[in-house]
Amino acid sequence: MVEEKHTPLFDVIEVRKEFPILSRKIYNKELVYLDNGATSQKPKVVIDAIEKYYKEDNANIHRGVHHLSQVATDEYEQARTAIQKYINAPTSSEVIFTAGTTASINTIAFSFGELMNEGDEIIISAMEHHSNIVPWQLLCERKKCILRVIDINDEGELNLAHFDELLNERTKLVAVTHISNTLGTINPIEAIIEKSHNVGAKVMIDGAQSIQHLKIDVQALDCDFFVFSGHKVFGPTGTGILFGKKEILDAMPPYQGGGDMIAKVTFEKTTYNELPHKFEAGTPNISGGIALGVAIDYLSKKDLDAIHSYEQELQTYAEQEILKIEGARIIGTAKDKTSVVSFFIDGLHPFDVGTLLDKQGVAVRTGHHCTQPLMDFFEIPGTIRASFAFYNTKEEVDVFIKALKRSVNMLK
Ligand code: ALA
Repeated sequence: MVEEKHTPLFDVIEVRKEFPILSRKIYNKELVYLDNGATSQKPKVVIDAIEKYYKEDNANIHRGVHHLSQVATDEYEQARTAIQKYINAPTSSEVIFTAGTTASINTIAFSFGELMNEGDEIIISAMEHHSNIVPWQLLCERKKCILRVIDINDEGELNLAHFDELLNERTKLVAVTHISNTLGTINPIEAIIEKSHNVGAKVMIDGAQSIQHLKIDVQALDCDFFVFSGHKVFGPTGTGILFGKKEILDAMPPYQGGGDMIAKVTFEKTTYNELPHKFEAGTPNISGGIALGVAIDYLSKKDLDAIHSYEQELQTYAEQEILKIEGARIIGTAKDKTSVVSFFIDGLHPFDVGTLLDKQGVAVRTGHHCTQPLMDFFEIPGTIRASFAFYNTKEEVDVFIKALKRSVNMLK
């Protein structure tokens, strides 16, 4: 049998031409953008969509009978449908536009939280971003619920035996990240979802760091909520998605009150609009939503499996080179990880290293990455984090490593 050769459906040199910012210089040096975990760059089609909206189609949506309002409404709803299809949500009414992952989680914490009672339990993990910790703490204060935290091991992998111990009939929600923004760990969410459902708990997956790297099928996963940000998936900032199963969203009260989320308002009683509008009070980020649909369309034409393998190659190559530096330690060595390389160099503050890398045109993130409990676990003040997207190249990793060695030599 002839083995089929897997040819990536993307050519990184061609892909790079689609992102205007990648050809700019920083301090007269070629930009090496390795901060994709913080935000991704935008392809020209996304930038053009925003410009076209304001130049040609600007109007409020769901409100006017006039032509422009119809055009804007159609474009916005087409974007919702594109996102629905991309994540394989059963219906577009289960796809709610938000301002980002943080807004999506806060919506769930407030609204699903209203269905919770004193003594109910929520499980998160030790590797969560603050946005998947603090909203639950607020809920626990408000409703006297209990927050439980799944331990991790030294590699930065979830301790599933501990998860089993925490799960019980009082667990109402399990909220975990799909991929850790700090460690790159890919969590076994399929097992987490199944175990949670066995005790009747609902599951929210924080997909902020996975939607741009892995194919997501919310029906195959059978998650109850899946949330992500537009800006990390090549779309605009200020956009995000909250997918929720219809029967759960129907049972939840609205999060915010205002225009568009109502069916009928009187001073005595207000009734609410149907999904998804019940959760979309006020004029939304219309151009952002439309452009997010364009970003998702753009990504849907790429081969995500090929992208995933390519990004893992960049990550392992970077790790191998970083480890050649004396005193370097990779934080997050899970067997299953992708696209993120967090590291620490003994005796050097991450901020100083990041500042020197910047002067050489290399953009990385330094600090606690909004995961302070994780820094406490590893007993470090922060890390230097290089995070990859499919437009990065091996040559860029070489530039980064050279700049890193130079920075270390200057600081030691
Ligand atoms: N959550 C983003 C990051 O990891 C901002 O950098």
